[in-house]
Amino acid sequence: MSDGALLEVSELAVAFGDLRAVRGVSLTVEKGQTLAIVGESGSGKSITSLAVMGLLPAQAKVVGGGITLDGVSLLDLAPDELRRLRGEELAMIFQDPLSALNPSLTVGYQIAEMFRRRRGASRAAANERAVEAMAEVGIPDAAGRARSYPHEFSGGMRQRIMIAMALALEPRLLIADEPTTALDVTVQAQILRLLRERQRAGLAMIIISHDLGVVARTAQSVIVMYAGQAVESGTVAEVYDAPAHPYTLGLMAASPSARTSRRGIRPIDGNPPDQAALPTGCAFHPRCPFARERCRTETPPLRRLPSGRASACHFAEEVLAHDRTAGA
Ligand SMILES: Nc1ncnc2c1ncn2[C@@H]1O[C@H](COP(=O)(O)OP(=O)(O)OP(=O)(O)O)[C@@H](O)[C@H]1O
Ligand code: SF4
Ligand SMILES: [Mg+2]
Repeated sequence: MSDGALLEVSELAVAFGDLRAVRGVSLTVEKGQTLAIVGESGSGKSITSLAVMGLLPAQAKVVGGGITLDGVSLLDLAPDELRRLRGEELAMIFQDPLSALNPSLTVGYQIAEMFRRRRGASRAAANERAVEAMAEVGIPDAAGRARSYPHEFSGGMRQRIMIAMALALEPRLLIADEPTTALDVTVQAQILRLLRERQRAGLAMIIISHDLGVVARTAQSVIVMYAGQAVESGTVAEVYDAPAHPYTLGLMAASPSARTSRRGIRPIDGNPPDQAALPTGCAFHPRCPFARERCRTETPPLRRLPSGRASACHFAEEVLAHDRTAGA
């Protein structure tokens, strides 16, 4: 375990019955740092983070691995201890913000509830703190808007409310699952600015995003997931500069907002595999332009490369070399 590690997930496996949605994912979030998780739909990004939060859907189960926060094993905590940690240490902004808000209560009431229940604040003090929390995330006329219901806010304002709720109890780690998807570009920039202010104040984050531009602007390190596994990890600078896995190359080529444009590399053809019937060997082989016989039979482990990054490709060195030539 490294010195600055806040969250350590090791070899996490999550199953829905016989189906393995997450198959041995390891990741580390250092104190005050941001890790991004990228990958196509269904690759296991949300399920990984819900496992960290202890908020998996009822049908899902952690079937292997460990999760520690500051050395404390979250999987061994009693439900009420975990509930206490949520909010105070760990918080999450969900992919679907409306589902996380109660439609029949005013937003001011919902935020104030947190201060009343968790901090023992009086009704008046809690209301006051709720208005402050809303003002801090840039909601104009916070005192007035505290009396509005969730559906009366725009998508961007609702996302600000989610952030205000998540940060109300000053957690150390925020998991933001697609925090800017479905927002227009201007609002997206405002939300990112807000998150970056909190990062500067020492908040550690896991950001999940389809948008490689968003990742480049918020995270220091990144893991790339495919079919429930991490296929590449490293610093954002290194991975963007030269991917060491063909899937990452494909994601970059498919992303209009990736920092570098790469001529000569095509976006990935085909669809993510059916988790219930994964290809043999490397799960990416049916779609991989670098695939050869060995890939069909032998599963590539995630292995360290000399630079300190990791790739789960038999031919990572070749992918790196190819990309250097293609980019030149
Ligand atoms: N409620 C569920 N019931 C059964 N299987 C599920 C359920 N939720 C997720 N899964 C399985 O877990 C896998 C990972 O889902 P997850 O929600 O983590 O994907 P994701 O990477 O967050 O995708 P997206 O980018 O679309 O949000 C899915 O491919 C699916 O097989
Ligand atoms: S192991 Fe083979 S199929 Fe898998 S990513 Fe590498 S080259 Fe492609
Ligand atoms: Mg998701």
